[in-house]
Amino acid sequence: MKVLAINGSPHMGEGNTAMILNPFLEGMKEARADVDLFYTRKLKIGPCNGDMSCWFVNPGTCGQKDDMQMLLPKFKEADVIVWASPVYYSGVTGPLKNLMDRQLPLHMQGEMGPKRQKIVLVSTCGAWELSMFDPLLLQMNALYSRPEGSSDFAGALLRPMADGMKEMIKAGETRLVEGVFRAAKEAGRQLAKEGKISEELQKEVSRELMPRDAYYKAAQMMMEQAQKATKK
Ligand SMILES: Cc1cc2nc3c(=O)[nH]c(=O)nc-3n(C[C@H](O)[C@H](O)[C@H](O)COP(=O)(O)O)c2cc1C
Repeated sequence: MKVLAINGSPHMGEGNTAMILNPFLEGMKEARADVDLFYTRKLKIGPCNGDMSCWFVNPGTCGQKDDMQMLLPKFKEADVIVWASPVYYSGVTGPLKNLMDRQLPLHMQGEMGPKRQKIVLVSTCGAWELSMFDPLLLQMNALYSRPEGSSDFAGALLRPMADGMKEMIKAGETRLVEGVFRAAKEAGRQLAKEGKISEELQKEVSRELMPRDAYYKAAQMMMEQAQKATKK
């Protein structure tokens, strides 16, 4: 099973998104999946220029010569595609959206054949509310839940209050957080073996780590302390 994962966080392997993505990919590797991980920050991929030449001038070929040429065949070969991104203004990061748009030549090639790809979303955000991911889920469903399409949306690993989670780890409060990482890894194994991620595991990754008011109060205090420290 070939897995293509793209992490759109500028923090790459050190970011909150990687905290969920990496155990998930580990789980897949343990189940013998062949995993390729790319960071948009390391790729040279320009925005789509919208001239539609990949449809009407050179069908299936993009006129821009950049890293997308290397990635397009990988998209075609993949059995599983993992989109990983922090929430930025209710969407994925700009570089990841650019990369998504640049898949347009593939839709002209129509070469997916009978294969149906599985699509997974991994995302983190600063807010406590799980609803912060709704716009991203809407986009995934719009893209991947059409019966005439060649892909199926296999599930989402969504981690709200990810910044708070990182602080909890720093403070040594790891008991609840470890359950989140375990669930992310198990989700990877499950997807590789069974082709889907259970609702229980998805819920466990998103589990509440502290009450909403306590989180925002702590976040406010940390912000004030950080501002004081920079003024000194
Ligand atoms: C430009 C920008 C926009 C953001 N927009 C949101 C947002 O709309 N909602 C939210 O809850 N968090 C938002 N965040 C917080 C990030 O989603 C959060 O810190 C995330 O876990 C960072 O992941 P990373 O460390 O992998 O980059 C934003 C952060 C930045 C820098």
